[in-house]
Amino acid sequence: MSDLAQAGVYPASAEFTQKAHVDAEKYEAMYAESVDNPEAFWAEHGKRIDWIKPYTKVKNTTFEFGKVDIKWFEDGVLNVAHNCVDRHLATRGDQTAIIFEPDDPQDPAQHISYKQLSENVNRMANVLLSQGVMRGDRVVIYLPMIPEAAYAMLACARIGAIHSIVFAGFSPDALANRINDCGAKLVITADTAPRGGRRTALKSNTDAALLHCSDKVRCLVVKHTGDQTSWIDGRDVDVKYLMKHASPDCPPRPMNAEDPLFILYTSGSTGKPKGVVHSSGGYLVYAAMTHELTFDYHEGDVFWCTADVGWVTGHSYIIYGPLANGATTLMFEGVPTYPDAGRFWAVCEKHKVNQFYTAPTAIRALMGQGSEWVEKYDLSSLKLLGSVGEPINPEAWNWYNTHVGKGNCPIVDTFWQTETGGHMLTPLPGAIPAKPGSATKPFFGVKPVVLDPTSAEEQKDTKAEGVLCIADSWPGQMRTVWGDHERFQETYFSQYKGYYFTGDGCQRDEDGYYWITGRVDDVINVSGHRMGTAEVESALVAHAKVAEAAVVGYPHPVKGQGIYAYVTLMNDIEPSEDLRKELVKWVRTEIGPIASPDLIQWAPGLPKTRSGKIMRRILRKIAEDDFGALGDTSTLADPSVVDDLIANRMNKS
Ligand code: PRX
Repeated sequence: MSDLAQAGVYPASAEFTQKAHVDAEKYEAMYAESVDNPEAFWAEHGKRIDWIKPYTKVKNTTFEFGKVDIKWFEDGVLNVAHNCVDRHLATRGDQTAIIFEPDDPQDPAQHISYKQLSENVNRMANVLLSQGVMRGDRVVIYLPMIPEAAYAMLACARIGAIHSIVFAGFSPDALANRINDCGAKLVITADTAPRGGRRTALKSNTDAALLHCSDKVRCLVVKHTGDQTSWIDGRDVDVKYLMKHASPDCPPRPMNAEDPLFILYTSGSTGKPKGVVHSSGGYLVYAAMTHELTFDYHEGDVFWCTADVGWVTGHSYIIYGPLANGATTLMFEGVPTYPDAGRFWAVCEKHKVNQFYTAPTAIRALMGQGSEWVEKYDLSSLKLLGSVGEPINPEAWNWYNTHVGKGNCPIVDTFWQTETGGHMLTPLPGAIPAKPGSATKPFFGVKPVVLDPTSAEEQKDTKAEGVLCIADSWPGQMRTVWGDHERFQETYFSQYKGYYFTGDGCQRDEDGYYWITGRVDDVINVSGHRMGTAEVESALVAHAKVAEAAVVGYPHPVKGQGIYAYVTLMNDIEPSEDLRKELVKWVRTEIGPIASPDLIQWAPGLPKTRSGKIMRRILRKIAEDDFGALGDTSTLADPSVVDDLIANRMNKS
């Protein structure tokens, strides 16, 4: 082990650094320019995409509470689908744009060239037009990880419709809420979705959701598996059939840089998920630039991001970033453990993946299965590894580095959020040596600040601890909450005036490296998926036998955080194992499997202040087994409830 590695610092190899797009010197110079003179910096880097009408204004942004307004390249005109498809046709029409690896390894993979992608996107765009979808209309996409998801996204972009993808693991209720919130004109789904050898009935989920939506909403169905589904004539439409008969030519619609490209719902500290709105121009510039530089993507590389397109990671790093860069991007329908725990590595070997990007929870789960699953495969194509979604613990980092990267692949730990559109803190692999567990330094144009959570004062010393805020806008930033600009300002700009508040705590070390310590609000991070505790609570209290519920996160060895629910039952209801199971099933139906409580503790009472506010701090400590640090409980209306909760806390498995 080198001296540096012993000190916990891992620079990329000399060979990697030599070929990298950005080295340490260049990073320093570019970073300084990006924050000192953002206008000039982004005027230049905005040119990485094609503009139908070039912008003359670059940045017009204010974080002032009450007046928050974010515009980038505002007078520019472009089309996102043109940038991700058409502009590559002349030079790389026959190059593979998307490698589709199906759930079942026995089924053949598909290599979809840029030409084929173009044809499919154009046909799908014409199908949408034929269904009456117009510029600015919303289209909900509830699809598995299949090429049609990419076609649908890009088809929307082509005609100026706004897509909103709902993760295929969400329940009919969650789907209905999202369709209604954004007022979607139609929803695109599939018959069934194979995943890990099992099938999810997406069409019947959609049928159930549409019972709660306007009867004007149409349903486009991709017949993916051919499984039998119900069919409502006049409402349901066979997409593949229509695509076959549609014209392969649909001119891209010129869009303003600030026209919304998509809405993506994400959980916050209140019950209702919010529709994060991303722009066309700024978002694409940022997704493309971060994709190229963070992953040090080079011409001809095969890039694999294992996320689902239902999350922002899939938007930016399966579809928009890679395709804007003319890359080959891999779309995987399955799960890491099917048919066995070697699947990720089998796919890396099969498609000669060069950059591999996944979440710590997957690494921990696979680490638990033993390194022999990795050793079976030839991973010599790998040049770089990435991590996203939650802090990566040093044990998982070391395993990833040693067994997957063979000590020879830089690991980029990328911190960002649905709201940020692309990476915010991340090593650029040729420039910034990694430290396991740290997302290291800001990307270009990002001005992180550490504030004292109480005084809101900026911590100017290099070594600092507090909440992470961002002092100025960057092009990939979300623009608003769909239909609720007030909520946008309240959520992100009210607590620390003049700053964008990430909701995360962090430390900055003596080298200026950032270490994310986790959310400081009521959001928990379960297997890299963000979940609002209030959302799970409202699902629980919607059950007839539940009087009250409080949900917190607790450390979980694989998921990062698990969901711990304290439940007070109605007066005449007896707790039982069956009821526990019933409640877990209930939450799965209300929200989806990702929201299933891991532990439910029956709580005769919850710790409340005299004014009736639940003291979550205490509940978190009990869930974390940290009774020594309960703090002051004297303000509680009934301090004895705490003793009961401690005495009956659940064993963690
Ligand atoms: O708490 C941070 C955590 O995930 C949150 C954002 O979640 P979401 O919007 O679902 O986006 C996830 C993928 C971009 C953040 O507020 N998070 C994300 N990446 C990291 C992280 N925490 C630590 N290290 C990371 N690399």
